[in-house]
Amino acid sequence: MKLKLKMLIASTAVMGAFAAQPVLADAKPHVVILATGGTIAGTGATSTTTVGYTAAKLGVDQMIASVPELAKVADVRGEQVAQIASESMTNEVWLKLAKRVNEVLAQKDVDGVVITHGTDTIEETAYFLNLVVKSKKPVVVVGAMRPATAISADGPINLYNAVLLAGSKDAMGKGVMVALNDQINAAREVTKTNTSTADTFKSPEMGVLGYMQDNKPHFYRMSTRKNTADSEFDISKLNSLPRVDIVYGYANMDRVAMDADIAAGAQGIVQAGVGDGSVAAQMMPAFRDARKKGVIVVRSSRVGNGIVARNGEANDDKEDLVVSDTLTAQKARILLMLGLTKTHDTKELQRMFYTY
Ligand code: SIN
Repeated sequence: MKLKLKMLIASTAVMGAFAAQPVLADAKPHVVILATGGTIAGTGATSTTTVGYTAAKLGVDQMIASVPELAKVADVRGEQVAQIASESMTNEVWLKLAKRVNEVLAQKDVDGVVITHGTDTIEETAYFLNLVVKSKKPVVVVGAMRPATAISADGPINLYNAVLLAGSKDAMGKGVMVALNDQINAAREVTKTNTSTADTFKSPEMGVLGYMQDNKPHFYRMSTRKNTADSEFDISKLNSLPRVDIVYGYANMDRVAMDADIAAGAQGIVQAGVGDGSVAAQMMPAFRDARKKGVIVVRSSRVGNGIVARNGEANDDKEDLVVSDTLTAQKARILLMLGLTKTHDTKELQRMFYTY
């Protein structure tokens, strides 16, 4: 009896060990990690350095090696696309990255892509990819708020969750996702809301798509706007994007910045206006001059939530303006750049703002 009991305990322990494995060895998805830098690849002078560290120091292979758990849940390989802090992100890096994402996802043996990225502009890169990736396969953009050398660095768990998400069939067709802090957000809606805390990423009022828990995604909603494989934008032959600048709204603003942007070659201006994208009386002549030159003017809001109402705070039909719908100014800039690669017609551009 004693022997049988011992065998039962031993076999239960073995079964328990197998149950702890999140994914069966022969069912591992193939995930490619494209690295671009950021704090997730950053290092500090000490383990308590959480500001004043250097972003974009570790290479992609070092990051993968630092999370051995990845190999248990996916066949992972990495490529270094850039090595920058994301405040230095450019249109050129976006085009290079997007082309590589499309190439990699076109490979039959790739199930999903993870992009490691600085958090400062992660929402912009994610939204750009959301509009130009030509695949329903999962694309997950991930970063970290603490450098890799910090106590309780968030990079390793964020990377682990991102790889699980990118390898999950449940994540197919959800558009580009931003996943940090166990939360999955849609590229269109996510924004950084705190300069330094690990829970900085929110989709204000819309909410998360879902959570990462117990080694798998749990989805609760989807973004309703067109994206990825359903998008009309094609960057495959582009080497640059039209210049679009953002003009910030504030009390006592004047037209100096807007005029300078147009003189520098801007084909479009996004005003991050006060309130419902309101236009100061002294700015309306600048808007009219811009339109006379063929420059597209988009009214967005600096508020961060809500719809900028067409023909609300300005007569958009009469002035031939475009409204950003609910897009923040930084995302409206991206959609306008891509829109301008196809048309300068304001009605057509407005359609795009109500579609994406
Ligand atoms: C960056 O955006 O590259 C620096 C900040 C960060 O990644 O959190």
